[in-house]
Amino acid sequence: MGFLRWIFRLLMVLVMGYSVCMMFYYTSYTHSSREAMTDAFQRLRCTKLKLKFSNITSAKRLNMKRFTQEVDDFLNCPYKPNAIEQEINRMRLQFCCNATGSLFLTKRNTAVNQTIPYETSIKSTYKMNPAIHSMLPEDFPWSSRRLGRCAVVGSGGILKNSSCGREIDSADFVIRFNLAYINDSDVGLKTDLITINPTQIQREYKNMEKNPDPFVERVSVYGNASLAIPAFAYTFCTGLAIKALRVLHPVRPQQPVVFFSPEYLRTLNRFWKRRGLKEVRLSSGFALISTALELCESVHVYGFWPFGTDLQDNPLPYHYYDQLSPHPFMHSMPEEFVRLLQLHSKGALTLHLQPCSSDKP
Ligand SMILES: *[C@@H]1O[C@H](CO)[C@@H](O)[C@H](O)[C@H]1NC(C)=O
Ligand SMILES: *[C@@H]1O[C@H](CO)[C@@H](O)[C@H](O)[C@H]1NC(C)=O
Ligand SMILES: *[C@@H]1O[C@H](CO)[C@@H](O)[C@H](O)[C@H]1NC(C)=O
Ligand SMILES: *[C@@H]1O[C@H](CO)[C@@H](O)[C@H](O)[C@H]1NC(C)=O
Ligand SMILES: *[C@@H]1O[C@H](CO)[C@@H](O)[C@H](O)[C@H]1NC(C)=O
Ligand SMILES: *[C@@H]1O[C@H](CO)[C@@H](O)[C@H](O)[C@H]1NC(C)=O
Repeated sequence: MGFLRWIFRLLMVLVMGYSVCMMFYYTSYTHSSREAMTDAFQRLRCTKLKLKFSNITSAKRLNMKRFTQEVDDFLNCPYKPNAIEQEINRMRLQFCCNATGSLFLTKRNTAVNQTIPYETSIKSTYKMNPAIHSMLPEDFPWSSRRLGRCAVVGSGGILKNSSCGREIDSADFVIRFNLAYINDSDVGLKTDLITINPTQIQREYKNMEKNPDPFVERVSVYGNASLAIPAFAYTFCTGLAIKALRVLHPVRPQQPVVFFSPEYLRTLNRFWKRRGLKEVRLSSGFALISTALELCESVHVYGFWPFGTDLQDNPLPYHYYDQLSPHPFMHSMPEEFVRLLQLHSKGALTLHLQPCSSDKP
């Protein structure tokens, strides 16, 4: 391996040296040959970055300035999805975690009185009572067909002024997080699945049983989108999730409240831990990108850039809609980002970090 790498480096040095010489040689001649040389340079840099990012597994010791420049250059390189890589990821994820059959609790995959162990501590369990069971969805919308082009839209400040709304809205299935605000210009409006963090309910809609209107109004913005809650992540989540289900089920039957299967999230955590992603718990963003890799034909990722400056080194807010900072203990967003970059460079998904052009769909 070491020897091969050495040979490879030697070759690169030779080719680079050659290109530089040729460039100087040709500059004095014609414009077009100079362009050809710049092209060759460009292709070489793209190949080099692809190799580097295909193998990146840690965000530790990143030189941010250089990393940002490299990511920007890399995203300007021609991009080809890799169907084989997509199938491999799909099969691995289905085999380990099976979002296809168990992303949420449904009437089909969950029985009345079934004991449900919690995601983060299987010593705690919940017994599925008949009233709650009767409000679970029958089955998944994807039980009969694979989802097409999916857009997974994180809340990163990088989406501010991105003009990506139209492109996102043109996807077949759009996933968003934590009741994020929607906006036709930058993030789009179409929403098929959106998560609710139980702490949001606790903080903002504690009294929803007495006064449901503010909550009902907030979620009705998302039309018929499913509202997904990690009801069995921690024990404090369950009561809040059930409250949301009880309030919305009668008044917005077209907008199902769904509970993540704790078993699915637990096995998915384990899947990524085995692959070196060591964090307390996956962020819901990273978890649902994994879900999309299993369920969708193609996955387009927007708004995942957990750094304080954009690709041109301008300061960025952490979210596109507020001024909150990340939870320092729970997730390691830079580590997750590096995995996304790796998946992008292998052609398994497409990362979008640059502004969207208005002429593209
Ligand atoms: C990939 O990374 C590992 C460890 O970070 C390193 O040992 C290996 O040589 C790298 N492979 C390539 C092709 O760069
Ligand atoms: C996934 O779940 C579905 C529905 O329960 C089941 O039919 C299928 O065999 C499962 N797939 C795998 C790979 O376990
Ligand atoms: C669930 O448990 C209750 C009592 O704990 C029992 O009366 C009921 O028949 C059970 N239902 C089913 C479907 O097992
Ligand atoms: C949408 O976002 C853009 C840029 O962030 C902002 O100028 C505009 O006011 C927003 N529109 C709405 C309806 O929030
Ligand atoms: C977005 O655009 C507005 C107006 O052009 C500008 O004031 C603001 O700084 C921009 N925000 C970001 C994060 O680029
Ligand atoms: C939402 O659901 C209602 C009732 O099922 C249906 O009439 C309506 O067309 C749906 N809207 C969209 C945008 O799918």
